[in-house]
This record gives sequence, C-alpha cells and structure tokens, in this order.
Amino acid sequence: MSKVLVAYASKAGSTGEVAQAIAQELCAQGLTVDVRRVREVKDVSEYDAFVVGSAIRMGSWLGEAKQFVEVNAAALQAAPTAFFTVHMLNTDDSEESKTNRAAYVAPIHAIVQPDAEAFFAGKMELGKLSFLDRMISKMMGAQDEDKRDWEAIKRWADQLTPQLA
Ligand SMILES: Cc1cc2nc3c(=O)[nH]c(=O)nc-3n(C[C@H](O)[C@H](O)[C@H](O)COP(=O)(O)O)c2cc1C
Repeated sequence: MSKVLVAYASKAGSTGEVAQAIAQELCAQGLTVDVRRVREVKDVSEYDAFVVGSAIRMGSWLGEAKQFVEVNAAALQAAPTAFFTVHMLNTDDSEESKTNRAAYVAPIHAIVQPDAEAFFAGKMELGKLSFLDRMISKMMGAQDEDKRDWEAIKRWADQLTPQLA
C-alpha cells in the first residue's frame, strides 16, 4: 500500500489545518499517511507519494516550503506529487486571479512540476500574527476572516487518491 507524506509550511496555522484535513481524507480512502511540517521531515525515502503545501506570504510560498522542494526535488520528481497553496487574495475565476495564482507557484514549478495542484482560500486571524505581519495585514485592509471551504478541500483529496495510490 502507498505511504504518502503530506508536508506543509504554515505561519499562523491555517495551512496546517488544511494539511490535516487532506491527510485525514487520504487516510479515509485507505492510504497510509504521515502529515508533517516541512522542517520536521529529515528523510523522504520511506514515502511513495507526496502532497506538499504552503501558505502564501507577500506573493510567495514560505521559504521553508520552497527549500523542501529544492532539497527533495529528485524524490518528488520520481513519485506522484501534488502541491496545494493556501492564500487570501486572487481566489476567484477571473483571468487576473488565475495569472496571479500561477505567479505564486511559478518559482516552485521551476523546480518540480506537480502531477496535481490546488489553490485553497485560507484564513486571516490578526491576533495570531507577528507584530510585523499584523502591521502589513492592517495596511492592506485585512480583517479576521476564515474562507476555507472544507468540502472543496475534501473533494480534492478524494479525487487525488487514485493518483497517489
Ligand atoms: C503578512 C501577510 C502577507 C500575505 N500575503 C498574501 C499574498 O501576497 N497573497 C495572498 O493571496 N494571501 C496573502 N496572505 C494571506 C495568507 O496566505 C493566508 O492568511 C493564509 O491562510 C495564511 O496561512 P497560515 O495560517 O498557514 O500562515 C498574507 C498574509 C499575511 C499575514
């Protein structure tokens, strides 16, 4: 049976909760799954498939997530690999949003092309941010808001299962 690693980078926690929801659904579909922060993963050799995700900060994946993809590029390239991205802006179906979403992940695709990919609306909780992040968020007019669509996240994990198995 396939063993899947769901590895994620999160600053304020919402991407971690999305990663947990994906892992839970893959488990429910019969896969063996570990869910870990990217920085906790030392060795990927025991895994047959990968789901890697990051929050977006200032238009980019978190540095530790990009580094994980760089360090493990050969393993990710050789196995079924899916990426997910959690963010607050550019969530609609307009061409502008699609272009901006593609720009979020272009530097990651330059390292590894995923077999599947999803973008999920995330959560903003000002009280969970560092002082600097809170300042930036307030300047951008951000307010507390949870836009995560758990059904969409579950659906994606469901339809991903055959690709990872
Ligand atoms: C300082 C800061 C910068 C952000 N920059 C972006 C951005 O450029 N584009 C975007 O769509 N979302 C942006 N977001 C929203 C986050 O991606 C979103 O809140 C996400 O759910 C955070 O994930 P986390 O809770 O795992 O850290 C930003 C949030 C913060 C606090």
